[in-house]
Amino acid sequence: MPRTSDPADRDRPAIVLDDVRKTFKIKHTHSFKETFISAIKRKEISSDFNALDGVSFEVPEGQSVALLGRNGSGKSTTLKLLSGVLQPDHGWVRTRGRTAGLLEVGAGFHPDLTGRDNVYLNAAILGMSKEETDERFDEIVEFSEIGEFIDTEVKRYSSGMYSRLGFSVAVHTRVDTLLVDEILSVGDAPFREKCTAKMLELQQQGITMFVVSHNAGEVRKLCERGIVLKNGRVVFDGGIDDAVKALNG
Ligand SMILES: Nc1ncnc2c1ncn2[C@@H]1O[C@H](COP(=O)(O)OP(=O)(O)OP(=O)(O)O)[C@@H](O)[C@H]1O
Ligand SMILES: [Mg+2]
Repeated sequence: MPRTSDPADRDRPAIVLDDVRKTFKIKHTHSFKETFISAIKRKEISSDFNALDGVSFEVPEGQSVALLGRNGSGKSTTLKLLSGVLQPDHGWVRTRGRTAGLLEVGAGFHPDLTGRDNVYLNAAILGMSKEETDERFDEIVEFSEIGEFIDTEVKRYSSGMYSRLGFSVAVHTRVDTLLVDEILSVGDAPFREKCTAKMLELQQQGITMFVVSHNAGEVRKLCERGIVLKNGRVVFDGGIDDAVKALNG
């Protein structure tokens, strides 16, 4: 997808969620016997669970937003809807331009391929051509600090090395909206600092950011706005400091 450069588009939001609901089925039986009996009795053995319900918000282009909430509140589900991995059961999700990012550590990495091959694979998944990736390859490897291990199969990598390489590919991809789920919580302190600096640099370039993090300090540095989810609903949407307070209060 081309980068949007039409000035008339500038005031249009990068992200729109309108009354979004995402429903999952949850199973209630554990044993084969239970499953068998309920099949005979035609009894419902699963029920619907709304991971998100009635979620609406807009993000203007160039804004950096933190999505906050306790475990299981629906943050990753929201990011998966934005990246197109999941579809809503009700309502609308709209994103403009190229939307990509790092949703799970090592997601999209093939364990049997080398770091080098995975960089090309991941970049392709994120929509980059081989030529574009060639151009940025050295920068990606340098940022990741993977060094000579770039030609080792990634199944031999430590979890920190995995996330360094994944983050490095994501931030060197040409995107309009960068989605980041929890990546700031992995890696050691110096690398986290480098990630934060890189994200601030991308902000300067006008990239829209949508970040999930449990680290209040880091999101305060990165984001101007915070949206707080609770049991799949938006309970706060406003300035980042008040959002962090709303989360803890
Ligand atoms: N594929 C799925 N099938 C069934 N339930 C799911 C599925 N994906 C997510 N859920 C449920 O939806 C709810 C929200 O999950 P989600 O991963 O969005 O939470 P989260 O806010 O990212 O939590 P965390 O902070 O732990 O990462 C959870 O109760 C989870 O169990
Ligand atoms: Mg999550």
